Order: sequence, then structure tokens, then C-alpha cells
Amino acid sequence: MEEKKLKKLFDSLSLKEKIYQLVQLSGEFFNTDALAVGPQEKLGIAKEVVDNVGSVLNVLGAEKVKTIQKSYLEKSTHKIPLLFMADIIYGYKTIFPIPLASACTWDPELMKKSAEIISEESCAAGAHVTFAPMVDLVREPRWGRCLESTGEDTYLNSQYAKAMVEGFQGDFTKGKSIASCVKHFAGYGAAEAGREYNTVDMSERKLRQDHLPPYRAAVDAGCELVMTSFNIIDGIPATANEWLMKDVLREEWGFDGLIITDYAAIKELITHGVANNDREATKLSIDATVDIDMKTSCYSNQLESLLKDGEISNEQIDKAAWRVLKLKNKLGLFEDPYRGASEELEEEILCSQENRKFAREVATKSAVLLKNEKSILPINSEGTKVALIGPYADSQDLIGVWALHGNTEDVVTLKKALEQRVKKENFAYAKGCDTLEDYSTFGEFGQLLDQGNGKLMSTDEKFEELERSVKIAKEADVVIMALGEHMMQSGEGGSRTDITLPKVQLELLEKVKETNTPIILVLFNGRPLILTDIDSRVDAILEAWFPGTEGGNALADILLGDVNPTGKLTMSFPYAIGQIPIYYNQFNTGRPFKESTHSARFTSRFLDCPNEPLYPFGYGLSYSTFEYSNLALDKTVMTKDEEIKVTIEVTNTGTRRGEETVQLYLRDMTGSVVRPVKELKDFKKVLLEPGEGKRVSFILTEEKLQFFTKSMEYMAEAGEFKVFVGKNSQDVLEEAFIYKLN
Ligand code: GLC
Repeated sequence: MEEKKLKKLFDSLSLKEKIYQLVQLSGEFFNTDALAVGPQEKLGIAKEVVDNVGSVLNVLGAEKVKTIQKSYLEKSTHKIPLLFMADIIYGYKTIFPIPLASACTWDPELMKKSAEIISEESCAAGAHVTFAPMVDLVREPRWGRCLESTGEDTYLNSQYAKAMVEGFQGDFTKGKSIASCVKHFAGYGAAEAGREYNTVDMSERKLRQDHLPPYRAAVDAGCELVMTSFNIIDGIPATANEWLMKDVLREEWGFDGLIITDYAAIKELITHGVANNDREATKLSIDATVDIDMKTSCYSNQLESLLKDGEISNEQIDKAAWRVLKLKNKLGLFEDPYRGASEELEEEILCSQENRKFAREVATKSAVLLKNEKSILPINSEGTKVALIGPYADSQDLIGVWALHGNTEDVVTLKKALEQRVKKENFAYAKGCDTLEDYSTFGEFGQLLDQGNGKLMSTDEKFEELERSVKIAKEADVVIMALGEHMMQSGEGGSRTDITLPKVQLELLEKVKETNTPIILVLFNGRPLILTDIDSRVDAILEAWFPGTEGGNALADILLGDVNPTGKLTMSFPYAIGQIPIYYNQFNTGRPFKESTHSARFTSRFLDCPNEPLYPFGYGLSYSTFEYSNLALDKTVMTKDEEIKVTIEVTNTGTRRGEETVQLYLRDMTGSVVRPVKELKDFKKVLLEPGEGKRVSFILTEEKLQFFTKSMEYMAEAGEFKVFVGKNSQDVLEEAFIYKLN
């Protein structure tokens, strides 16, 4: 409706009706199953609030949404429709690979198209807003939510943030687009020790230089909502942080969209220790310009009295409520409160063959080939006897823990995919062992898992499975071992201090290793794992992550050679847990291990471990091999308005067509503050026939040299720069140039 009409409607609302628009509740308040994913507590919410609440959390499905919307509007005085918001992070019913996997495609356009498909499926199911993209920078593989992130690099995460917002929101066409909510603002991925919900503490410089740009990219791409993070920033929880929410997000960045808290985050201001009670917590949040209170009774029960006592202003409540109505209007809900929710459309598009086909393509491009000794891969499906062994071999738990609305029953397992393409007489399967031996770490969730429904093996079954695994391994030409962390060992609340494969699976691996049959390890995980001890025990490693609904087919495409893998890591795989945090774009220190004039003892290193990760950022093999040569700059001195053309020759020295992601990094050798030894600044894909060579070029502009200087200005400084171009963050060629201010 026209803004003038909307304003008229707004002005007709009572104070209470405006406040109720700022409250979000989950499904149990609407007599439906609640996909509540946070702490449950008796909220003390009055029925009047429920009947007038502004939005609903994690209720989806055309029929359910239409029923709730209809009965809500029948009772509503002003006929202001409900907003339906949900966690549709990497898929609604067609589940794509987890974001940490899709990020390994190094293809923002592909990620954008995934978001478009997710939006279309979600619209049919009545969704209006998705709590995605999650763009938290992560350098902590102990943290379970690596799964949802796109990794450790600011530049790459920013590209993906923009792509996902554009994919979700499009041009807000009904039936095609949903509003996106970038999260978790800000810095949630820097939780100390990777312990969930733990303290975040860093300099403003590090926050602005490393962590904030991806959120900024999402806001600049037009993201309609921002979600506050659970953590503190400079001692103040984000939900109450006026500097972060008002000064930075709203004033510096010009964001006038909706700020919504994370689950019950307002109430947690008391637990954090910055508020004594709901009233104080409410004031802190509305003063930080937080608009929607997710799942507490703070706003509904405290705002009116704060206003009456003159502690907050009418304007603060009006601004928040007006933002809610503006979004509802932008989504066209006043004209059509059901906005495309359709059972027929659900039937037609949810998990459609077309969507599955695209999800399969994304999954093939998300997998990362980490090792391939003697080119044991791809497997020749004609004559090779294959033994598929492991708890993930025939598991449908391939969608990861944040695919809240997905169905594991839709998942194609690796076993099913291989059986369709490997002759029966050449194929054998054994589960080998359970995913885990001990489910107690999951607490009440443990009962929901294998342990709960009796899937766990008895002692006899364990012995038989082990025996069978060894037998089929002996008889095979090659073993594919499908191993991984349990789906519930990552995601929210999934922090771990031991990120190696489960012990019971390592024991199975050892038994199979004793048969001397070559082993191809296929890994299913939601974070980088410590693979050092098993790396030498296997001949090939394919990192599959949680590859989604079409995971089995995608992996079979790669293992049998129909697809040449192209994935490249966006998060370092540590050599040892003691190295963490470990990431490629670190500072040089005053005593770098490999450059210092001091004796080795007195340099920045460990006595018992290398400084480098086992597998670095940007790393990934192909069935082809690529040679890089002749790195050249068209000038070695650049001034402010000039640009440098960087070119490099890339040749496919392999025997089959392959695609390579060529990466360009920079190092600012001297700045008014220290600068990383490398920073990703650009990347390009090149497709090469066997023997073919191409020159790949990049353009360097002054903008690529900018950073937050000592005075916290974002600008470039004169001096020497190094340019690195290569196949990953370690294996590069280098050149140098000077940047002059005039
Ligand atoms: C959870 C998560 C957040 C999610 C929200 C709503 O606690 O932190 O990512 O969007 O609650 O489910």
C-alpha cells in the first residue's frame, strides 16, 4: 500500500498495538509444533500479546501458515498480517551443502542461485524472512557454527554475503523472494576457545578490519534485517550495544531496516550482568535501536511502563513499529497476507528434480580433494572391485544440523548412488561401526539420536560388522571409507575440544588398513577436523562436508570420475589442535620462524608442531594438475588513480579437462599498523583442456590496498607491496610493486 496510507494505519494504532508489533513468538503460541531451537522457558506472555504479536518464528508450511494467518487476522482490529520468519540457512526442502561447503566452490554466483531456489521453495511454504546469511568470520574449528559460515577470509565472506542477500531478496517479487536477515551482528565467530556463546574480546581495529566487512556487504546489498549476536563487544552484549547498533550500523552504514535479537537475547542481558531485571534489559535494547524482541516478554511487558516513567520516548517505539510495518508493506502482505503460500506450489517445487539437480551440481563443486596418492581417484567403475565401508556409507544424515525444515528421508546416500553405477558383483558394503560410541555428550538430544531409536549395534553386531568390513576390504581393489563426525557434533551448541574423527571409527580404519587394500577416505563433517594422524594411513581424502539432499549422487559423480573436483578450502585444517587459532592471513610478528635473524629457539614457533596447517586456506586438488608461470605486473610503480594489471600463465599439465581457481593475494610490507603476511584480494576460475595454457589477469586498484590505519581512517598508504598469485594461500608466485600517493 502507499506509504501515506500505511502512515494513516500506523497513526491509528494504540501504544500497546505498536509494542506488540515488536514481539516475536514461536509456534507453540499458535497451537502448532514449535521448531524452537533455543532455551525454552515460561515466558509470561499475556494472551492479548499473542493475539496481536508482530511475527512468528520457525513456523512454515503453506497450510499451517495460512491457517495461523487467517485466524490471526480474523481477530485483528487493524488487519496487520503476521510476519513469518524462519531459519532457512542452506535449504528449505532441497537442502544444499552446508555454507562452509558451498563456500569451497569459490563461486558467489552459484551461491546466489542456491539462495534463489531456497527463496522460491520457502515462499511456497509461506516464509517471509529467512535468518540468513550467517556471515560470521570464523578462525576457530572448535566452534560448532563453522558449519554455517563461509570461512576465515574477510574478502571472500563479503563476496558471499552480498551474493546470498541478492539471491534471497532478488527484486522482492512475490513467490520468488524473501527478506534476508544477516547474522550474527557482530563477531560471534570469535568466541574464545571456540566455546559456544563464550566471550568475544578484540580491538576495534580487528573488529572493523576482519569481522565487520561481510555484515557491511550484506547491508550494502540491501539486506532488510540484522540479527544481534549473543556475545559482548568491548564488554557490552551486542543486543545492548549502542555503539555497534546505533553509531556503526545505523549512522555510519545508514541501515534503517529491522534489528531483531537472537533467541531470547534481551533476557540474557541480565545473565551477562549488564541489567538487573527485564525492565533494565528492555531499556538497554530499545536504546540500542533493537526493533524486535525474539522470544522474551521484555518488550511486551516493560516498554509501556518505561515510556510512562519517561525513561524512553514515544519516538523510539514509533520508529521500531514503523520499521516492522514498512517491511510488511514491502513484502506486499497487506495486499496478500498469504504472499504466495500454496500447497499446490509446494507439491510442484519442493525438492523437485530440477532443484535436486542444481543441489547436486553445487555439492560436486563443494567437495574438496585433499589427497590423491598415485591418482587412485577417480575409480574406474567398470573393472574395479569396490568395498564401501563406514557409518556414513548408507547414512541419510547428510544435511547437517541447521537444515531445520529439511527431511533426511529425501537424502540420496553414497551407497545408493554407487550401487546404481557399480556392477553388483564389483560392489560390497559394510557399515563397520556406529558413528559414535558415546551419545551422553548430547545430553537430552542423545536420546533423539541413534541411541534413542535403538540404532546402536550390540556387542555381537559390532564384532560381526568389523569382521565383515575386513573381509570385503581384503576382497576389494579399493576401499571407500565413509567416516565423519556425528551430525549433532557441529552446529549451534556443537563446540568440541577434540576435533579428530570418533575413536570407534579410527579403530575401524586401522583394521581395514591392515588389509593393505588402498583406502579412499570420504569425510562428512561440519568443521575442519584434525586429520594429521590418519593422513598417512589413507591414499586419498575427499572432504564431503555435509553435502545435502543430493550428497550421495554428487560424491559418486566425483569418485567415479564423471566430475573433476574443483573445491578449495575456505578454512585452514590445523596440523594440531594446539595451533588454534590458525589462519593464513596472520601477522608476521617481530620474530617470524622462517625469516628471523635470531636462532630458531627464539622465534615464533612451537617446539612440537609446525606453524603451518595440514591443509591451508585455498587448498584443493583436481584430477588435473596445473602449472603456474610467468607472473607479470604491467608496472612496478602505481599512484592513486592508476591500476596495475597482474597476469599469470596457468597450464593444465594433466590428462583431462579441469577447472582451477586462481587466487591473488597482497601483502602491504609496511604500514602505520602491522599488516597480514597475505590477504586474498581477488580470484578467477579458468577452465583448461589437457595441455592448454591461458593467461589469467587481475586488476589492482588503490581500493584493494586500503585498510584501517593507525588513525582508524580507511585508506591506502604509500610503500612496498608484494603480489602473490597461485593455487592456494601457500603455493604462490610473487612479484612486488611500489604504491606512491602522487
Ligand atoms: C538461534 C541462533 C540463530 C537463529 C535463532 C532463531 O539461537 O543463534 O542463528 O536464527 O536462534 O532460531
